[in-house]
Amino acid sequence: MRIAVIPGDGIGVDVTAEAVKVLHAVGDVFGRPLDLEMLPYGADYYLQTGISLPPNGYATLRDDFDAIYIGALGDPRIPDMRHARDILLGTRFELDLYVNYRPVKLLHERLCPLKGRGPSDVDFVIFRENTEGVYVGVGGRFKPGTDAEIAIQEEINTYKGVHRIIRHAFEFARARRLTRVCMADKSNAMPQGHALWQRVFREVAGHFPGIEARHLYVDALALFLVSDPGQFQVIVTNNLFGDIITDLGAALQGGLGMAASANLHPGQTSMFEPVHGSAPPLAGKNIANPVGAVLSAALMLETLGWTAEAHA
Ligand code: IPM
Ligand code: MN
Repeated sequence: MRIAVIPGDGIGVDVTAEAVKVLHAVGDVFGRPLDLEMLPYGADYYLQTGISLPPNGYATLRDDFDAIYIGALGDPRIPDMRHARDILLGTRFELDLYVNYRPVKLLHERLCPLKGRGPSDVDFVIFRENTEGVYVGVGGRFKPGTDAEIAIQEEINTYKGVHRIIRHAFEFARARRLTRVCMADKSNAMPQGHALWQRVFREVAGHFPGIEARHLYVDALALFLVSDPGQFQVIVTNNLFGDIITDLGAALQGGLGMAASANLHPGQTSMFEPVHGSAPPLAGKNIANPVGAVLSAALMLETLGWTAEAHA
């Protein structure tokens, strides 16, 4: 297996170093070494060269590697986050990694901020649509900087995009013998785009008769995730709501340092990263929690079919 490793910026470097140790140890124990290729992309590289990724960068990542592992990206010297958007969002879009898979699993009750809740109450997965929604960057500003400024940021929802993420959520539930899928949208306030989510959810749910298909408005989902998280098994939602809800999920499992994620296009080269950012003030002090990074490496092994290695 050939893995592209981009430690990136800030604590991304610290936590990736720990995840790499774990990957090498797994390779030793199972006698299946991994070929990890360290790539220099990140803030320093961008500031020195003006390049976030080389011109053929996405094609190289897709065609020359079995998986991509990223630490974190973001640096105060690049306030518009240009390099981070190119590398992280760019790879999600260019490699069409339409499934953002973020498991929320509490490992020990002392890590949970909710009183009286333990591991059996916080154990669900969130599937976040990862290639459209408001993240496509469609829109513009008119008369910027004036009192007449108009700022437009469009949300794109396509039948294909909505269908494939909802279908993936149901297929995951069936494969894991789970019985509940919850779709969250805001169709009461966004009746155009989210009517599509409603229609596709009903359509796909019809093919999975053994699975309870529940709909919640995303504000209600936020409330229930705090008041009674145990009722959830699989949650599927759009790109922006998924971003927000997965931070809430991270808090439930002990903080951003614990949360892992996979950006998947099933059957193709996919990308794995902890949910947290680069946390510049904490960088280089050997204090960043590497658990989210290590668990992201486990998701990578699992996706590559190395099931026993992933468990270990
Ligand atoms: C995440 C992050 C990114 C996102 C940022 C860094 C653009 O918050 O992976 O959740 O919004 O997707
Ligand atoms: Mn986020």
